Amino acid sequence: MQFFIDTANLDEIREAASWGILDGCTTNPSLIAREGRDFAETIYEICEIVQGPVSAEVVAQDSEGMLREARLLRQIHEHVVIKVPLIPEGIKTCKVLASEGTPVNVTLCFSVNQAVIAAKAGATYISPFIGRIDDTGHDGLALLQDIVSVYDNYFFDTKVLAASIRHSQHMLEAMRIGSHVATLPFKIMKQMFGHPLTDKGNAGFLADWETVGEDVETTARRFLDRRNG
Ligand code: E4P
Repeated sequence: MQFFIDTANLDEIREAASWGILDGCTTNPSLIAREGRDFAETIYEICEIVQGPVSAEVVAQDSEGMLREARLLRQIHEHVVIKVPLIPEGIKTCKVLASEGTPVNVTLCFSVNQAVIAAKAGATYISPFIGRIDDTGHDGLALLQDIVSVYDNYFFDTKVLAASIRHSQHMLEAMRIGSHVATLPFKIMKQMFGHPLTDKGNAGFLADWETVGEDVETTARRFLDRRNG
């Protein structure tokens, strides 16, 4: 499974990238607005850090405008993926961009029918919003499962990108379902490391090591110096 980070905050992206497990990044107009920085500059910097797919969303609501924005955004960096909303004009835009070889992330997906429409338009990614579906009293993970199954039925190449992930249980279930990608807020990506037994075990090993009375580098260097003459 690919891990994308769902933020436009450069510090968060830098830290997640430093762990070596980050495959890409998704932004949206709300996340960009939250940072209060220049959109194009921010996208360029994210691409340079991530060195993988970075979704930048168009805001025009007509296909001509979306295409103009998309073609400019694509010139910012080779890693830019164009994000379009799942509305008829967005789908029309997706079809054109896909035929030009531009990767497209179709966002704001809330049904299997919508996901199939995006796949037929050549989307590279479809983004079902799990958390926002849960918020309406429906089952976001059930939708994710349905999309993965229906895509399998018809051998669609479009990757399912689980979005609007709110907690680590969402993430666990997304992996069980076989979602190709998940985009995670930084906080949840960090939470995935956490286990009380890891912390307890690590503390125990360190306490026992204190009784050895030597550090690893010293003992290893002494051994290597002796062996290598
Ligand atoms: C996906 O690309 C979106 O940016 C994001 O996952 C939306 O999540 P939210 O529902 O927490 O805003």
